[in-house]
Amino acid sequence: MITKRYHFDVLDSTNKKAKELAQQGCEHGTLVTADAQEAGVGRRGRSWSSEKGTGIYMSMVVRPQMQTEQVSMLTLVAALAVAKASETMGIYEKQTPCIKWPNDLVLHKKKICGILTELSLIGTSIDYVIIGIGINVSNQMFPEEIKETASSILLETGQNIDRERFIVEIWKCFDIYYKLFLRTQDFSLLKEEYEIYLVNKYQNVKVLDPAGAYEGTAIGITNKGELIVDTGEEQRFVSSGEVSVRGIYGYV
Ligand code: BTN
Repeated sequence: MITKRYHFDVLDSTNKKAKELAQQGCEHGTLVTADAQEAGVGRRGRSWSSEKGTGIYMSMVVRPQMQTEQVSMLTLVAALAVAKASETMGIYEKQTPCIKWPNDLVLHKKKICGILTELSLIGTSIDYVIIGIGINVSNQMFPEEIKETASSILLETGQNIDRERFIVEIWKCFDIYYKLFLRTQDFSLLKEEYEIYLVNKYQNVKVLDPAGAYEGTAIGITNKGELIVDTGEEQRFVSSGEVSVRGIYGYV
């Protein structure tokens, strides 16, 4: 349930604004959106291209009572919510695999959505978590360095999606999956559905582990949201955050 919504024409970053509000004590369920971001932040310190009116830039403040190790699973919960909402919006056919583990959404093998989850602690307990979602809705072009791997819903499907309806739908889906997640505090109730959307399932992947890259077949996820990779010799469990996973020949 959205408890309060803040919308801005322009922000530096919706995640940054959400953090400010959270630090001022805003409620669980606060949503921050913007039409443009001047300093959109991506994962691994990258920037997120956030032109006015072309994308969805939204950040949700959640205040979960859980262990810090469980927080990375919220990113997978958010990815599942975006996948489901995208289906409702008619972007994908029903049950089309579109989640690149752990939390990117792809269309025709190109990234159209990224999720950045940030955690703040008080001592060792969670104060708040910000889940920032960026979706390329109607971009017509992309910066040189990402144009091979990124695209937009408009470019891939020709559809002009109503961003406002999409935002509300994402939040609605997130709320449903979040409650299911809280029931068990793990991914056991969501795993089956997540795997339907997992593009990597039964695909060959390259795991870019800092301790040494390896290849294998992704066969699903665990109840903790780890990717299970069968190397032929053993099954390895890949945690999000530690490593990147790519297709053998490219991004997916
Ligand atoms: C990624 O690198 O894949 C994650 C990108 C997350 C971008 C979104 S846009 C809304 C929110 N505000 C930010 O500054 N970043 C996230």
